Amino acid sequence: MIEKSKILTAIGIVVAVVISVYGIHQLYIQHEANRIDKFRKHAGFYVLKQDVNKTQDGGFVGFLSWKPGKKEQEEPLSPVIRELKVIFKVDGKNECQFKITDIEDSRFQLPYNEPFPFTKEQGQESKLERIFDYKVSQVGEQFYFELFRKSSGQTIFSTKDRPILFTDKYLEISTEMNEEMIFGLGDRRTDFQIKSGRYSFWNADAMWIDNGTPGKSIYGYHPMYLRREVIENNFHVTLFRNTYGLQVDYKQNQYLTYKTIGGNLDFKFFLGDSNPENAIKLYHNYVNGWILHPFWVQGFHQCRWGYKSSDQLMEVWDKYNSLQIPIDSLWSDIDYMYKYQDFTIDTERFNLTQMQTIYNLSNPQGVHWSSIIDVGISIEEEGAIKGQEMNIFIQSAKTKEPIIGTVWPGKTYFPDFNHPNSTEYWYEGFVNLTKYGLQQDGIWIDMNEYSNFVTGEVGKDESTLVNEIKTFFTSEKPNLPFNPLEVRRLDHRTLSLDAIHYSGDQAVLVNATKNYTITQYDMHNINGFGEGLATYKAAKRLGKKLTFILSRSSMFGSGRYVQHWNGDAFSTWEYLRLSIPSIMNFQMYGIPFVGDDICGLALDATAELCARWQQLGSLYPFSRNHNGDKYSPQEPYAFPKHPYVLSSTIKTLNVRYQLLKFYYHLFVKGNGLGTIFRPLFWEFPGDEQSYQHQFQFMLGDYLLASPVVYSGNTFTQKTKHCVYIPENSLFFDFYNYSPIQGGDHCFQVPFDAVVPMYIKSGKILHLQDRKNTLRSRFLDNRFTLLIALDENNESSGSILTINNYNEDDNIIQNCTEQQNCVANLSAKVNSKSGTEMEIEIKVNQAAASTNFQEIIVDKLIIVGIKKSESYKFKIIDMINNPFIINKDGSELNLQFDL
Ligand SMILES: *[C@@H]1O[C@H](CO)[C@@H](O)[C@H](O)[C@H]1NC(C)=O
Ligand SMILES: *[C@@H]1O[C@H](CO)[C@@H](O)[C@H](O)[C@H]1NC(C)=O
Ligand SMILES: *[C@@H]1O[C@H](CO)[C@@H](O)[C@H](O)[C@H]1NC(C)=O
Ligand SMILES: *[C@@H]1O[C@H](CO)[C@@H](O)[C@H](O)[C@H]1NC(C)=O
Ligand SMILES: *[C@@H]1O[C@H](CO)[C@@H](O)[C@H](O)[C@H]1NC(C)=O
Ligand SMILES: *[C@@H]1O[C@H](CO)[C@@H](O)[C@H](O)[C@H]1NC(C)=O
Ligand SMILES: *[C@@H]1O[C@H](CO)[C@@H](O)[C@H](O)[C@H]1NC(C)=O
Ligand SMILES: *[C@@H]1O[C@H](CO)[C@@H](O)[C@H](O)[C@H]1NC(C)=O
Ligand SMILES: *[C@@H]1O[C@H](CO)[C@@H](O)[C@H](O)[C@H]1NC(C)=O
Repeated sequence: MIEKSKILTAIGIVVAVVISVYGIHQLYIQHEANRIDKFRKHAGFYVLKQDVNKTQDGGFVGFLSWKPGKKEQEEPLSPVIRELKVIFKVDGKNECQFKITDIEDSRFQLPYNEPFPFTKEQGQESKLERIFDYKVSQVGEQFYFELFRKSSGQTIFSTKDRPILFTDKYLEISTEMNEEMIFGLGDRRTDFQIKSGRYSFWNADAMWIDNGTPGKSIYGYHPMYLRREVIENNFHVTLFRNTYGLQVDYKQNQYLTYKTIGGNLDFKFFLGDSNPENAIKLYHNYVNGWILHPFWVQGFHQCRWGYKSSDQLMEVWDKYNSLQIPIDSLWSDIDYMYKYQDFTIDTERFNLTQMQTIYNLSNPQGVHWSSIIDVGISIEEEGAIKGQEMNIFIQSAKTKEPIIGTVWPGKTYFPDFNHPNSTEYWYEGFVNLTKYGLQQDGIWIDMNEYSNFVTGEVGKDESTLVNEIKTFFTSEKPNLPFNPLEVRRLDHRTLSLDAIHYSGDQAVLVNATKNYTITQYDMHNINGFGEGLATYKAAKRLGKKLTFILSRSSMFGSGRYVQHWNGDAFSTWEYLRLSIPSIMNFQMYGIPFVGDDICGLALDATAELCARWQQLGSLYPFSRNHNGDKYSPQEPYAFPKHPYVLSSTIKTLNVRYQLLKFYYHLFVKGNGLGTIFRPLFWEFPGDEQSYQHQFQFMLGDYLLASPVVYSGNTFTQKTKHCVYIPENSLFFDFYNYSPIQGGDHCFQVPFDAVVPMYIKSGKILHLQDRKNTLRSRFLDNRFTLLIALDENNESSGSILTINNYNEDDNIIQNCTEQQNCVANLSAKVNSKSGTEMEIEIKVNQAAASTNFQEIIVDKLIIVGIKKSESYKFKIIDMINNPFIINKDGSELNLQFDL
C-alpha cells in the first residue's frame, strides 16, 4: 500500500509539473503573440528612401527606411530593422525574383547555387520578352510592390495596404488573393486544394492530418504554392525562398500572409499558362530537376518494421515466391541492425548466408535489399568515436560537446552535414556496411527531421525551458518572438534551437557571415536535405550509377538527390484517401517518385482496407507495403479468411508489371522536369468539375485511374463507386476497351478487383502482357501497343528505344545524358471498303542520334474504331510476324478486318 501511494504521489508531481510547464509555456506564447499585435497597431511602415534605380534586366533596386508610428517612437527599443534593401530581378520571360533584405544582404540564407535551387541564366532576349510587369510605391508613401501578368492584368502578388515587418527574428509580409485556387503549400496531409487556415512549416516526425490549424506540418519544407488565376485561368507558382520556421495564414479570396522567424523576404515567381504543367516545369528547372531512379525500383516492395531475423525475411520471401506475387525488393527496417546502430548488421539474428540467398540477384528469385539508416549515431557505436575525432557532430550550446538526444538505439549524437568532414564520415559509414558482403541497393534515410524522442537534448533541466525560449528570442536584439507552431515548442522532439552547427568557410551547405554562429534554429529545415546530399555523394562513390535514396525529410531542391514516401500513415480510410493529394503535392515539389505506406504503418489494417490500398498502391509511383512493429501482419497473404486481399493484389500487381516499362518511360521522358502522377484537372484545366475529384488521378496524360477509397458492403463484398470523366472527353476502359464519356458513372466494384482505369482517346500506350513475370529484370523487349483512337482516327504516344532497362549505364548513356532514347509513335486508322481497315504506325525519333536497340511489337489492340454509332475494338496478334522497331523498320502498314 505504501509503495502504491508513493507511486501515485510521484505521478501526481510529474503531472503537475508537466501541466504547469505547459501552462506557463502557453501563457508565454499568448503573451508574445499579443506583443506582435500590439506592436503592429502602433507600428509605422517602410517607405522608399528615394526613387528605385532601374536595372538593365528590367528590374530595380531600392532602399527602404522605416517610418516609425507615433507611439512606437516613444519606445526606445523598436525591434524593426530600419534600413533595408529591396530588389526586383527579371530572370527570364516567365521568371522573376522579389527580395527584401538587410542592406548588406548578410543574413543567413541558402546560397544561390548548387546544390540549392538557383536561377538558370536565360539571356537578355528572354528578359525583354517578359510576360509580367510591376508597380512600386512612390517615395514617402507606404512601400508596396505589385506583380501582374501583362496579358490579362491579373495580379500575381501585391503587398498594397498590407504591413511588412522586418525584425531579426520575426518577418511578415502579405499578398492579396482574389477568387483563386491554391495548391501545395508544404508537406502536410490534407486536401489537394488548400482551404483557408493557418499552416505551419517546421520539419517534424509527425503523422497528423492538417486541418489548417497551426502545428500540423510534417517532414518536409516546401513553401511554394501553385495558384490558378481568376482572370483567364492561367497558373503560376510562388516560392518563398526561406528555410526558417514559418506560418502561412491563408484566407481564401482575401490574403495570404507569411510569418517567419528568420532569413529574408525572398520570393521567386514562375508564370505559366493555362496548363499547370508549364508553371511546374519552370519551378522544377529552378530546383535543379529531379533524379531518375533505377528501373527495379519501379517494381513492388515489401517492408515491415518487425522482420526481426533472416528466418522471418526468408519466410516472407518464400511466401511471395510460392504464391507468385510480383516483388522486386524486400526491405529491412531498423530490426536488422545490431542494437539499432547505424552501418551494422546483427549477424546473430540475421544469418548472412541466408541473406545472401534472398538477395542474390543471379538467382531468378533473388530480390534487391533496401535498408534503413537513421541519422542519429548511437553514442555506443564505433562510429561515435570516429565522429568525435572528425568533429562532425552538432554541438550542445550548454556543454560544447556533441549534443545528445534519444532515438531507437538510446542516446545518440547527430551528424552536422554542414561540417566539412561530414561527407567523408558518412561515406565511411556506408563502406562499413558493405563489409558484411551484402549489397544495399536501396538506401532508406529516416528520422532525418531530425527526430529526437526527448525535447531539445538529454540532460536539459526541464523546468528552465520556458526561460530558455525567452532568452533565445530576446538575448541579442529586441525582438518580436513568434512560434509558427503555436501549440508546440519548436524544439519538441527535435534538437535544442541553440545547438551549434559548423560555421566556418569550409561549410558543405551554408557559410556563416560576419562571425555568425549557425545554430539548429537556422539549420533545422535544411538538415534532411543535407543528409540526402551526403548520402547521394556516398552512394555515387560506392559506384552506384542510378541511385535510390528514400528520404523522409525533404526541402525544396531535395528531388535532385533523393526520392520520398509520405512517411508514417495510420491504417485508416482517411489516410488511404489523403495519400493521393500528398503524392500530387510531391509531384509539384519536384520529387515525383513517391508513395505511401500501403495498408498503413500504424494500427491493424482490415482486410478490406488492405485490399483497396494494395489496389490503389499498385499505381503509386513508389509502391511499397509497409507495416509497423506489433500490428497485425498485412502482407497480401496475411488475410487467409479474406482471400480477396491476395487475389486482388496479385491481379493488380500484374497490371503494374504490365505497365512497368511504360510507367518508367514517363520518368525517362520527363528527364527531370514535370509531373507523372497528376490531378485530373491537370489534363482538363478548363473543366471546373474535375477540380472536385481529388481522389482520381492520371498517369502522365495517358491513363485515368479512379480507385475505390471508401469502405463498402462487407456482406456483398462490393462498394458502390462513381467515376467522373471530364466533360467533352472520351476514354476507354483499360480492361475491356469499352468507351466511357464525360460525366459521372456509378457502379459496384467488388473487393476482389483491380483499380477502375481508362485510357484517354488519342493515346498509344505500350504494355507487356507477360504473365507471371515476377521480377522487373525479367521483363523482355516485347510489347503490346494499346492504341486508343481519337475522333480523327489517330493516336500518338512514345516508347523507349532501349531494350535493356536493367543496366543503369545503358539508361544513363543512351537516355538521360543525351536524351535520345525516346521515340514518338503515331498511328492512323483508315477505313477501306466494307469492314476492311488499315492501320499505319510510324516511329519517329525524338533525336537524330537515337540509338535503336531492337524492340518488338507483337500485338496491337486498337480501340475506339467507329462503326455505325458505336465503338469497336480489334486485337491483332502478330506473334509470328512482329513489328520490329529498329533503325530500319520504323513503319508498319497493316490491313485488318473489323
Ligand atoms: C541608386 O543610384 C544612386 C545614384 O547613382 C545611388 O546613390 C544609390 O545608392 C542607388 N541605389 C541603390 C539601391 O543602389
Ligand atoms: C546460416 O544459415 C546457413 C544456411 O541455412 C547455415 O548452414 C549456417 O549454419 C547458418 N549460420 C549460422 C551462424 O547460424
Ligand atoms: C547466387 O546464385 C547463383 C545462381 O543460383 C549461384 O551460382 C551463386 O553461387 C549464388 N551466390 C551466392 C553468394 O549465394
Ligand atoms: C567504420 O568502421 C571502423 C572499423 O570498425 C570504425 O572504426 C569506424 O568508426 C566506422 N565508421 C563509421 C562512420 O561508422
Ligand atoms: C576533420 O577531421 C580531422 C581528423 O580526421 C581533424 O583533424 C580536423 O580538425 C577535422 N576538421 C574540422 C574542420 O574539424
Ligand atoms: C564558403 O566560403 C568560402 C570562402 O569564401 C568559399 O570558397 C566557399 O565556396 C563557400 N562555401 C559555401 C558552401 O558557400
Ligand atoms: C570576427 O571576430 C573576430 C574575433 O573576435 C574579429 O577580430 C573580427 O573583426 C570579426 N569579424 C567581423 C566581420 O565582425
Ligand atoms: C474514322 O473512321 C470511321 C470508320 O471507322 C469513318 O467513318 C470516319 O469518317 C473516320 N473519321 C475521320 C475523321 O477520318
Ligand atoms: C548504348 O546504345 C548502344 C546502341 O544500342 C549500345 O551499343 C551501347 O552498348 C549502349 N550503351 C550502354 C552503356 O549500354
